[in-house]
Amino acid sequence: MTATIGSRISGTGHYVPARVMTNFDLEKLVDTSDAWIQERTGIRERRIAAEGETTSDMATAAARRALESAELDPSDVDMIIVNTVTPDMPLPATAMFVQQKLGAKNHCPSFDLAAACAGFIYGLSIADQFVRTGYCKNVVVIGVELLSRVLDWKDRTTCVLFGDGAGAVVVSPARGDGRGILSTHIYGDGTLAESLCIPAGGSREPATEKSVLAGRHVVHMVGSDIFKIAVKNLTASSVAALEANGMSGDEVDWVVPHQANIRILDGVAKRCGVPMERFYLNIDRYGNTSSASVPIALDEGIRAGAIKPGHSLLMCALGGGIAWGSAMLRL
Ligand code: ACO
Repeated sequence: MTATIGSRISGTGHYVPARVMTNFDLEKLVDTSDAWIQERTGIRERRIAAEGETTSDMATAAARRALESAELDPSDVDMIIVNTVTPDMPLPATAMFVQQKLGAKNHCPSFDLAAACAGFIYGLSIADQFVRTGYCKNVVVIGVELLSRVLDWKDRTTCVLFGDGAGAVVVSPARGDGRGILSTHIYGDGTLAESLCIPAGGSREPATEKSVLAGRHVVHMVGSDIFKIAVKNLTASSVAALEANGMSGDEVDWVVPHQANIRILDGVAKRCGVPMERFYLNIDRYGNTSSASVPIALDEGIRAGAIKPGHSLLMCALGGGIAWGSAMLRL
């Protein structure tokens, strides 16, 4: 959906756990190699949450940093959207724990959104609608995943890919200076729902001793199916963002993409006409952090001084569902 500018990102923050797990560490767990992982994915290492550390802990740390950078207090927050497929508990929403830990005491609506790796783009789009209509002033949008707890550490086709972390932004009213969220596009294709899923632990297949022993509570993925769809749909949603804003790839200062696989992004770069040098990448250090990957990259790029005020940013993400989308903004 395209809009006259109504909202902007007023602050960003991220948090990653301290523990680093390298590809060499994984060589000791499964039949894999640093060379295979680097060549096929671009990943060198990822972060793993400490024992006892929760999704809401990581989300709160990222949100605090985003609020600090926006120079806002938790009492200024009108809505909290937590994008995650690894909630603290099935009930209540992890966003409620984040509200509690942040000390946001003004009864703001707080909810979770499960659009997997596309979750942050979905959340950004929702925040944009609420701020643009004037219903909310400051919406905290968090992408957070604690995937290390839902992986089969004996399955080399999945455990090498993912990592833990959180990224957050604050979406606030634009200032009428041409800067802000220019467009968002979000999509879904439920026909591919089983290509990437955690089959058990929900109401369809409740947790039983048998389901746990059968490894039904961890990530199952048909990687090659997702790969092809990812290149196609990330390209299509990025082109939609460019077209909605009458822009060519040349006019994009940075693509801040979901970081799943360097080869997927290579395919998208070639098809969108934006060179890889303008893709902000950190997949080598964090792996695929699902909904956290775009806001982690955004905050890292800003704090490193690479992504600057006034830059045009194209964000795109795709994940389980299949859910995908893009956002164009002028920072
Ligand atoms: N180490 C060594 N060998 C491995 C490993 C591993 N970790 N994993 C798989 N292999 C083997 C396979 O068993 C296969 O062996 P075989 O030829 O003897 O059968 C061989 O490597 C090639 O396997 P492929 O699956 O064809 O490898 P591919 O090049 O497609 O890479 C990968 C697999 C990395 C999963 C890729 O398909 C991918 O990135 N897909 C996207 C999945 C993804 O990122 N999902 C995350 C969520 S969705 C998203 O974020 C976009």
